[in-house]
Amino acid sequence: MNQITTSMTKYMSDHPNLKYIFFGGKGGVGKTVMAGTAALWSAKQGKKTLLASTNPVHSLSNLFEKDVFGKAAVVCDDDRCFAFEIDTKDTIERSKQEIREKINWFLRFADLTTKADDFVESATMNPAFEESAMFENMTDIMFRDEYDFYVFDTAPTANARRLLGMSKVYSLWVEKMLKSREEAKSLREMLSFSKKNEADPLMDYLLSFKDRMAKAQSLLTNDQLTAFFFATLPESLPIAVITRFINWFYEFGIPVGGVVVNGLIQQDQVKKDSPEFVLNRVKMQNEHMEEIWQIFGDRVRAVIPLFETEVKGSKMVNRMVDYLFKP
Ligand SMILES: Nc1ncnc2c1ncn2[C@@H]1O[C@H](COP(=O)(O)OP(=O)(O)O)[C@@H](O)[C@H]1O
Ligand SMILES: [Mg+2]
Repeated sequence: MNQITTSMTKYMSDHPNLKYIFFGGKGGVGKTVMAGTAALWSAKQGKKTLLASTNPVHSLSNLFEKDVFGKAAVVCDDDRCFAFEIDTKDTIERSKQEIREKINWFLRFADLTTKADDFVESATMNPAFEESAMFENMTDIMFRDEYDFYVFDTAPTANARRLLGMSKVYSLWVEKMLKSREEAKSLREMLSFSKKNEADPLMDYLLSFKDRMAKAQSLLTNDQLTAFFFATLPESLPIAVITRFINWFYEFGIPVGGVVVNGLIQQDQVKKDSPEFVLNRVKMQNEHMEEIWQIFGDRVRAVIPLFETEVKGSKMVNRMVDYLFKP
């Protein structure tokens, strides 16, 4: 069966309460373009929409030809369509500062004279720290709940899944931390170092962190609220990437919305005497389309043609809406 059974439009009308959508896939397959297109579509449906990039390499400003770095602004002349590139550096600095304060407090609490800086360095000098800061940034945006619909333009690698998988790991970790904090606290009370009910900022922090993670997880695993879409080109590598991604997502219980195929050369653009290069590419694409139907079948939501130019600016994004959301 080589045809779409549930289109993007149908999927959306089958999930009327959908509020958070994501686009994943290999770099360069059109995730940012799709995200922009979905945001504009949602705004056109009358929903106040935020398109947010949690990707350290931003491209929304380029797509919309408007500066949205560090601040949300209206794009595509639709006053309900906002875009926003998160300032990663700023987020990381703030997280570092927060961690420094917590560690300082803890060192005083434990009567340790070690300088906090060493701990802060080791806590923040790893790649996962950046991702976790981005994850918190994303959940903050979700919890603020200022929009009806959110589209997240996520990082192109395995990060997206790690970000979400992390919420599970976080919960476990915080659980452990809380337990050892409880033990340390009651020990202090027994030794009457401290009075009961003494303020404990570290514990407060862990508790609120745990709450936020649990809330994030419940939103992100709710298939009525959340959907992850995967973009691919009719080429082997991007197909392999999303095949892997999709399996990971099922494992984590994160709702898979479906697959969008992008960049298909249109048959009516090709003649028998077209250049060999073009004929070869068409042949290659046809073979990979077969593979796509075989692997993803009824999860294919749209097949989008390769346009004659790159997709940039309001007019092109508008044009894209008609393809991604075919009636
Ligand atoms: N259907 C299409 N036709 C022509 N160019 C496209 C199409 N989809 C995406 N592009 C272009 O391909 C490039 C990569 O798209 P982008 O959305 O930035 O990919 P990603 O975010 O996955 O890295 C951009 O220059 C974009 O304008
Ligand atoms: Mg991108």
